[in-house]
Amino acid sequence: MFNLKKFNLKAIALISLSALTISVASTAATTQNNQQAIYSHMSIHHPVWAKNGMVSSQEALATNIGVSILAQGGNAVDAAVAVGYALAVTLPRAGNIGGGGFMMIYLAEQKKTIALDYREMAPQQAHRNMFLDDNGNADKKLSRYHGLAVGIPGTVMGLELAREKYGTMSRQQVMTPAIKLARSGITVTPDLANSLNAMSQRLGQWSSTQEIFYKKDGTNYQVGETLVQTELANSLELIAKQGNAGFYSGVTATKIAQAVQAAGGVLTVEDFKRYRVIERQPVMGTYRGYTIASMPPPSSGGVHIIEILNMLEQYPIKRMGHNSSDTIHVMAEAMRRAYADRSEYLGDPDFNKVPVKGLTDKTYAKKLAATIDINKASLSSDIAPGKVLPYESNETTHFSIVDKFGNAVANTYTLNFSYGSGLVASGTGILLNNEMDDFSAKPGTPNGYGLIGGEANSVQPFKRPLSSMTPTIVLKDNLPYIVTGSPGGSRIITTTLQVVMNVIDHDMNIAEASAAPRMHHQWWPDYIRLERGISKDTIDLLKAKGHNVRVKSSMGSTQTIMLNENGFYGASDPRRPAALSKGL
Ligand code: GLY
Repeated sequence: MFNLKKFNLKAIALISLSALTISVASTAATTQNNQQAIYSHMSIHHPVWAKNGMVSSQEALATNIGVSILAQGGNAVDAAVAVGYALAVTLPRAGNIGGGGFMMIYLAEQKKTIALDYREMAPQQAHRNMFLDDNGNADKKLSRYHGLAVGIPGTVMGLELAREKYGTMSRQQVMTPAIKLARSGITVTPDLANSLNAMSQRLGQWSSTQEIFYKKDGTNYQVGETLVQTELANSLELIAKQGNAGFYSGVTATKIAQAVQAAGGVLTVEDFKRYRVIERQPVMGTYRGYTIASMPPPSSGGVHIIEILNMLEQYPIKRMGHNSSDTIHVMAEAMRRAYADRSEYLGDPDFNKVPVKGLTDKTYAKKLAATIDINKASLSSDIAPGKVLPYESNETTHFSIVDKFGNAVANTYTLNFSYGSGLVASGTGILLNNEMDDFSAKPGTPNGYGLIGGEANSVQPFKRPLSSMTPTIVLKDNLPYIVTGSPGGSRIITTTLQVVMNVIDHDMNIAEASAAPRMHHQWWPDYIRLERGISKDTIDLLKAKGHNVRVKSSMGSTQTIMLNENGFYGASDPRRPAALSKGL
């Protein structure tokens, strides 16, 4: 009979021995990876290959627009701006101009990576207690489905700054495809029809939203019908003509402020004038010889992907096996510790000192890893009691783009929930975010979803809410090797992490790395979340270690490009139906 105790003793011995040799082994594996990770007779999924550039996004029309911009001689940033505007039309549940996000750019000429922060900011009249009811409890309706939920949008200024500073094309060139699509209409795909169908109650409460996303008789659009967004086309045209002024002042800013105030919010035209994009230093780390460049605070993504990888570097993950119980166990334990830190330390760095260096330090990770018992699950209550993470929605979207010049863009942006607050500012066609819900409505107290938030992420005027978005560029020998990211709320970090590990630790090509079943732990609630595809035997072994395990819906929608000397390899996550990776 299988003796778990004996097996685990053997595992510990193996792990200690392997830890000594890991750096040598990883160098050899790195060289092998470059060959194996692309096409192998072992593979059951294959990426798309191209020689002159690649676009991976969650919606096919937007990907095609990105590819056409590259084909016209545009660089990765030009294509990213075009895709960003296109997704606002073709993937209205997450693509946006009424939200915000983060863009990582690798600049080939300067051989450097930069991080653009165009996250929404809280309006001037926002305050710590704005989402509390008369009894002092967090009122989720106020932070999600109300005018108060809307932060100052950052997307237009983010895309505009990226294009002006790092692009080569005119605004008209990169925006025309999106304007045309909005004006002439898009064919409703099953994905779009399903999402609108699912949201009809929430979106239907605003007549300005109902008029655009549902038919005149109030019924849902059917697959194959055409969705025209004339007002959005007009708003986009104004931006194309006037740049930031076409959104942050004049008629658009006025209409948005009016709509938000009519919905009970406090956003003003003055707030639009105060909005700024910030160019930040990426958070940098290494994993088995590769360099990880990712998004710094106010995203928690970069800090924690590096913190988790630092802990996992202590283990011979490759030898322990992909999705084996031992590997899932140490991953869950590393995630548990990182997410506990997240609740305590992460917030807008312009308002709090975030100990980025300390959290991403390898010595710190060694200390944390030393508290992991290979045989036994920790209890989250023993790691750091009493703090809970805020709920984060799935409906963000990521795209990755690489051009023939060697530039790379990893962009994740969002309205927060699917279709954000659900409110379209009347006369603009612009859906507005509910990003204010990413603040801790009541620091230190579990919210309506039983999840947590810290003091560092309390609401303050002009502060940016904490995010999990993790646009990431992995560099090999200082050149982009993997460009990736994902939606998925608090699961964005662990989803992106697994794409990186699947390539580096498990020699998968990027399509396999994207398709492989995923796991997730976020410290609280205290269970390992698994996708379908992990065997019952493995789940039983995890339970025997003391883990709570739940198999739930799929996680993430990664859009990833891998590069080597032979070209670009794109992979769109098979978990979402309408995505496309395409090259030229
Ligand atoms: N709204 C999801 C995030 O920013 O992480």
